[in-house]
Amino acid sequence: MNVLIVGSGGREHVIAETVAKSKKEPIIFAVMSKKNPGIAKLCKDYLLSNEVDTQKIVNYALINKIDIAFIGPEAPLAAGIVDELEDKGIKSIGPKKEVARIEFDKAWTRKFMQKYNIEGCPKFGVFNNETEAISFIDTLESVAIKPAGLTGGKGVKVTGDQLQTLDDTKAYVRHVLEKDTVVIEEKLIGEEFTLQAFSDGHTLAFAPTVQDHKRAFEGDKGPNTGGMGSYNSSSILLPFLTDDDLYKAKNIMLDTIKYLKEETSELYKGVIYGQFILTKYGPKVIEFNARFGDPEAMNILPLLKTDFLDVATAIHNESLKDLIVEFDKKATVCKYAVPEGYPDNPVKDAKIKIEDTGDALLFYSSVYEHEGIIYTTGSRSIAVVGISDEIEMAEQIAQNALDNIDGRVFSRRDIGTSKLIEQKMHNMKKIIND
Ligand SMILES: Nc1ncnc2c1ncn2[C@@H]1O[C@H](COP(=O)(O)OP(=O)(O)O)[C@@H](O)[C@H]1O
Ligand SMILES: [Mg+2]
Repeated sequence: MNVLIVGSGGREHVIAETVAKSKKEPIIFAVMSKKNPGIAKLCKDYLLSNEVDTQKIVNYALINKIDIAFIGPEAPLAAGIVDELEDKGIKSIGPKKEVARIEFDKAWTRKFMQKYNIEGCPKFGVFNNETEAISFIDTLESVAIKPAGLTGGKGVKVTGDQLQTLDDTKAYVRHVLEKDTVVIEEKLIGEEFTLQAFSDGHTLAFAPTVQDHKRAFEGDKGPNTGGMGSYNSSSILLPFLTDDDLYKAKNIMLDTIKYLKEETSELYKGVIYGQFILTKYGPKVIEFNARFGDPEAMNILPLLKTDFLDVATAIHNESLKDLIVEFDKKATVCKYAVPEGYPDNPVKDAKIKIEDTGDALLFYSSVYEHEGIIYTTGSRSIAVVGISDEIEMAEQIAQNALDNIDGRVFSRRDIGTSKLIEQKMHNMKKIIND
């Protein structure tokens, strides 16, 4: 089997490792915007190319007789890469453009949730007109302001976080409207969690829930990032989540794929990522993504016990309901080492020396290799993952590995520690009882 991986980050590195573990002994190819040394090592051949140059990617896939392509990031999905690959008979793990829309068009998605009465939708409005947008803001206590399109995680601003005053909020709405439609939502309060699943358009195979940490600094302070690290427990739940919460979140995602089919006649095939916030009133949807999370892919894929290529085949053949998709019942903690100054003023071209990372798994993200030495770019550099029976132990394995990575990088020591997790449980209890 010839397998193509599209993408070049930590998420795609773990996808490649998981494909490489398959008993089907696949031959791996990759298309990367920049060379990821970890992916390159697993490949027979790779192409350095813009990941949205769909024509070039399809040609590369044809030349190399690719049987199945895994699309890691959202940009190629939004560019319609799956439609083009499937037109040429190449199976793809990723939704077609019409249904990948749940990620790349936040305005469409909220209206879709509203139309089909899908649970967990906050109060929202979609606007192209400033006066109407501003009068909607005046009806809400606090808000999240979102450009409708993709912004690489840098477009959303929330009252009390990035928006301090009503004037800030209105100015930001005007700024968004210069280029895009604006989605305005009531601000939801609670703990966020991620639920990822494989989808064949009919059935979902759910992975354990994960919690990501978006803020750059310890104590969940500082600017938003692509994600500094994430954890899951040895059960499918998180310490602050109940069975009932998970049941509701799963139903929201099942309704979503069901009604996507009704709305578009297209089956949603690939990975669906539900980003939820657990509020006093149960789980609400922050957004959906049409692919794995980065870092969250690194928590769950190393736990996948079922052959990844069997899962991929079942997605393609619409036979997920007949496959038992199993995950090891282990806790994991993933932490990113990022360049000093990240995300605002990251040091680039700084050497990173990786010594003994012990029992931790290591995934490369945005680094480059020159004469055997690894260097930083402007983005997240290297992720380490500890796996154990307890979150606490997994945290120590990850932290020990980070302590053996030298260079002008930093990470968050607090992710996965009992102290931070207890704070989150306490926070959730307070919100529910208030
Ligand atoms: N309605 C909301 N209430 C509170 N916080 C929100 C809301 N919507 C988004 N956020 C916060 O903003 C972040 C980014 O928003 P999201 O919709 O996930 O956009 P993206 O990930 O595409 O930038 C979320 O992780 C969440 O922390
Ligand atoms: Mg998001």
